[in-house]
Amino acid sequence: MRKKIVAGNWKMNKLADEAVALTSELVNMANDEVKGDVKVILCPPSIYLTTINKYIENAPNFSLAAQNCSDKVSGAFTGEISAAMLKSIGVEYVLIGHSERRQYFNENNALLAEKVNTALANGVSPIFCCGESLDQRQNEDFIGFVKNQISESLFHLSAQEILSVVIAYEPIWAIGTGLTASAEQAQEMHAALRAHLADKYGADVAEEISILYGGSVTAASADELFASPDIDGGLVGGASLKSREFTNIIKAR
Ligand code: 13P
Repeated sequence: MRKKIVAGNWKMNKLADEAVALTSELVNMANDEVKGDVKVILCPPSIYLTTINKYIENAPNFSLAAQNCSDKVSGAFTGEISAAMLKSIGVEYVLIGHSERRQYFNENNALLAEKVNTALANGVSPIFCCGESLDQRQNEDFIGFVKNQISESLFHLSAQEILSVVIAYEPIWAIGTGLTASAEQAQEMHAALRAHLADKYGADVAEEISILYGGSVTAASADELFASPDIDGGLVGGASLKSREFTNIIKAR
């Protein structure tokens, strides 16, 4: 049985005091209001991970993700952060392949496969992001495109390894645009991705893998999205920066 996951990707937002305030508010609201089994993953800028880890100590449902890690193990790579470093400060997850990294930092499927490998080798679970552009949705086999992102970056993994991966489908046209994919559009893709995983790893493994939806998720859209059979929660950007709104998304079902 897959557990619901709601992850908040803060991107490059919040100063240190704001990051602490947001975390405290979220933990307090969750303790008061959130019932049932849901995992909350906060993805703050890496510079705040150590501090925020202290603020989630008494919130058993909360975990941390970095927004990126290096594909390299260690050494002379100025400015980079390794998966082993993330592990050493208690970070459990890392976003890999966010469309903003693909677009602005030229990250491709082969590089992302390396990042997945170094994360898994260090016991950090990848949250692997995939998704098509509007142009691809309108003019190409967009489901095939997203399936290929997954095959090229993940299908070298063993069944045991892929069970540690969370997948986040984030259509680029829905990110930060206010245009949410409809529950039907998202479910169509999620079902196709789960079938793709089943073809490679078998239905039992595919049933265990969480597939999150991301792209303008709000408290108003979360209920319907999360109720879809193959949507196991969300990866939330803008709405994760507001404690009230994000808590309402955590509570959606
Ligand atoms: P928005 O929720 O702001 O559209 O961002 C989605 C996203 O990119 C999460 O990783």
